[in-house]
Amino acid sequence: MNTILVGGQWGDEGKGRIIDLLTERSDFVVRYQGGSNAGHEVHIEKNVYVLHLIPSGILHRSKVCLIGNGVVVDPVALVKEIRGLRRQGIRVTPKNLVVSEIAHLVLPGHKLLDELREHRKGKDRIGTTKRGIGPAYGDKAARTGLRALDMLQPVRFREKLRAKVTEHNAIVRSFGIKPLRFDNVWSEYLSAARFLRPFIRDGVALLHDAMAQKKKILFEGAQGTLLDIDFGTYPYVTSSHPTAGGACVGSGVPPTRIDRVVGVMKAYTTRVGEGPFPTQYDPKLGSEIQKIGDEFGRTTGRGRRCGWFDSVVTRYAQRINGINHIAVTKLDVLDHMSELKICVAYKDGARRYNTVPMDLDTLRRCKPVYQTYKGWQTSTKHIRRFRDLPKNARIYLNAISRHTGAPISIVSVGPRRDETIFVKN
Ligand code: GDP
Ligand code: IMO
Ligand code: MG
Repeated sequence: MNTILVGGQWGDEGKGRIIDLLTERSDFVVRYQGGSNAGHEVHIEKNVYVLHLIPSGILHRSKVCLIGNGVVVDPVALVKEIRGLRRQGIRVTPKNLVVSEIAHLVLPGHKLLDELREHRKGKDRIGTTKRGIGPAYGDKAARTGLRALDMLQPVRFREKLRAKVTEHNAIVRSFGIKPLRFDNVWSEYLSAARFLRPFIRDGVALLHDAMAQKKKILFEGAQGTLLDIDFGTYPYVTSSHPTAGGACVGSGVPPTRIDRVVGVMKAYTTRVGEGPFPTQYDPKLGSEIQKIGDEFGRTTGRGRRCGWFDSVVTRYAQRINGINHIAVTKLDVLDHMSELKICVAYKDGARRYNTVPMDLDTLRRCKPVYQTYKGWQTSTKHIRRFRDLPKNARIYLNAISRHTGAPISIVSVGPRRDETIFVKN
């Protein structure tokens, strides 16, 4: 059984928390796209872990984690993350963490360019995480990127890195900014390369050997469907494919070996960064849910915008990813609400949309068509069986399932492992 887990909205759906549950029944956990723009928070007893580049499966001692070829790896950030996890008592060694040799690297020039481009865009900025993601994928597509395997040969690595720093500096100078000093970059990257060398291996062979031994693979998507570079609200997207298709190209596991796709969706909607968000709450409710739901980005600390559950978005995500299981998270955040809304369509004048219009001007004009549901106004945090949920919560969840077009298999009512309801379908 190989499973892809994807975000069904704009990221931060609680993917890390659900991965932590599903890892129990898997052998390998694979990140297949994105980079250190991701922030996946997992609560285990009193401890809180935030994963950026490393699959959340690392928190389970006996599992093997792969940073797949589709990920862009910031070597310095990765070393920092490994050290941080070790300080928290988590075992991270070349035995349980592998970095694909053909994963591309994020370089200091990428981070600088990410920041400069955002600055130059002013009010039109994307609101990126400034982790160098866009420029790193840009170099990959332009065939001028460096890969993890380049770190295995210091002489060649130095030459290639110098060429990239020279190229990036030419662009940086055009912004009127002080260029990077190669000596500084080299000393930082050489020491990261030395540290990471034993982790760098052939990820394709690793996963195919695992499949030959009937091992179970879990793919951990980062970001969310509406941030996909093709299917998202372009240009307010990330530069990779967080969608299910991305798992295959980002790991080397073929589509014929995928058995199920789990879509993680918050019981409401959030978005961090710029871009259209049709069901965004009014400012008062927005800041209330932001506070109750602790909706602050785990990578940048920015406040997340909050809004009603949008089934136009999740239905679109169901289609694109082939979601056949839904995990609904953060139901407890809505416990106090007297009334809830689910967006079932958009309207632009007389025209009705049942899917997300890809023209941003159209999407910006769209007004949500809502169905209203009664709240349950009682705590759900202690509930562990679907049938024990308040009737109105069950009605609300069934509506999410019906409008999205897939059954709900998991409902989470708190950040901890045990605050989970497994739904039998
Ligand atoms: P990811 O990027 O999709 O992994 O999600 P994040 O970790 O960025 O954001 C989800 C946040 O919600 C984290 O802080 C989780 O600890 C928290 N969380 C996850 N599930 C629940 C839940 O059911 N209830 C509550 N209250 N918090 C949750
Ligand atoms: P996880 O995996 C939410 C958003 C940024 C910005 C856009 C582009 O934790 O769900 P980028 O730095 O990727 O070029 O930024 O994408 N973004 C995320 N939003 N969760 C994430 O990851 C995100 N990663 C990027 O805020 O709007
Ligand atoms: Mg996150």
